[in-house]
Amino acid sequence: MDLQVRFVTFGRFAIYVNIDFKNAVGEIMIYSRLDDSAVLVAPTKGHADPKALCECDDLAKATVEQSCEPSLITPVNKADAVTFRAFLQEIEEGLQHFDPLLCEEGTGGVYFLRNKEGKQIAVFKPQDEQGNSPNNPKRDEGSLDLRHTITTTETPAREIAAYLLDKQDGFFGVPVTLKAQITHKGFRSGSALPITKIGSLQKFVENDGSAFDFGANMFPVKQVHKIAILDIRILNNDRHEGNILLKKTKNGMTLIPIDHGYSLPHTLDSTWFAWLHWPQAKVAFDEDTKLYIENLDVNRDVEMLEKELGDEISEDCRKNMKISTTLLKKGAANNLTLYDIASMICRSEDSESPSQLEQMHQEAQTEFESVLAASQQNLLPHESELLFLDILYSIMDREIAKIKK
Ligand SMILES: Nc1ncnc2c1ncn2[C@@H]1O[C@H](COP(=O)(O)OP(=O)(O)OP(=O)(O)O)[C@@H](O)[C@H]1O
Ligand SMILES: [Mg+2]
Repeated sequence: MDLQVRFVTFGRFAIYVNIDFKNAVGEIMIYSRLDDSAVLVAPTKGHADPKALCECDDLAKATVEQSCEPSLITPVNKADAVTFRAFLQEIEEGLQHFDPLLCEEGTGGVYFLRNKEGKQIAVFKPQDEQGNSPNNPKRDEGSLDLRHTITTTETPAREIAAYLLDKQDGFFGVPVTLKAQITHKGFRSGSALPITKIGSLQKFVENDGSAFDFGANMFPVKQVHKIAILDIRILNNDRHEGNILLKKTKNGMTLIPIDHGYSLPHTLDSTWFAWLHWPQAKVAFDEDTKLYIENLDVNRDVEMLEKELGDEISEDCRKNMKISTTLLKKGAANNLTLYDIASMICRSEDSESPSQLEQMHQEAQTEFESVLAASQQNLLPHESELLFLDILYSIMDREIAKIKK
């Protein structure tokens, strides 16, 4: 062969090999994918030393061997490459030795990623393997996802949003989550070639099972309250017991919320919480928790999500978060319990009729339209939202006053 041109990526680097054996020239470059810098590692141009060419060829062969087992992980957000450098590197090393391991639990494609010692350190959920997607490896197992308002490509941003909302103070204990792209041949695709997947990447949390494996009565009140507060803020549409991990500690146990891909919905009609009928939901907030809720600033949270995730969390979803968080704040200020508040948000089980929150929303919409018609003004979008929310919040106050304690 006279000329070989190969461009092979591995890890955060790419190798470019170009050897002309006939004319005894060649070059090997290593590119960094992080900052696009390139290093010439073996220039052979212009000299005909067969040994140098041999070395070039060896490196080329090694590169090709690498390409048989390539692995690549890149965070989608460039800043995450710096923030989570050590974590990503550990995964990268692990992917050289171990295929992603498909998790048996859950209804979507969820893979455990291991470090080079074989220890599980991360959980990767490719967006094209969630819900009703044809690539979902559990598609034939019968538990198809019918949560239609959130599409599978919208799920990683929601996993990340839950983490970002928790990042400042760690009140909920959502594991570190970022969006990443992984290229590997070990996904359940049926393909022998490496394929690239985008999805959410979360730190693996050591645990003793999920809430599903234990009786809810034994969970500490404060732990249940923190999960419930998160769920109301993000209007979680998927809080079943399997999505609460449990870790026994010296002093009791910690509940760890996972699986937030189906939160921040476009509509208010499919929110339901496993903890709604747990006894802890009927216990009043303690003073610390009340203070935490009082200090929540939903406008600041929404701005942060918009800055970090842009339109991946669309305006209607951000508005719904404002509504649910305001209901939480108003409810807590009026000594309602989580049960009282969540009962306004959730439809009664197996019921087709709208929840109280949906009804309030509908009433506000009707009133908003008549106010708008009467004023004959054209409002800017943000002015419209403000007016609508003002109307809705007055209706909330009226309804809360009826059950106030
Ligand atoms: N951060 C984590 N640390 C440890 N284990 C995890 C983590 N995230 C997920 N798991 C495990 O992987 C399983 C599947 O993950 P997850 O619940 O996110 O998937 P899913 O397919 O979206 O589930 P669902 O059926 O609830 O929609 C969990 O039940 C849990 O056992
Ligand atoms: Mg789950």
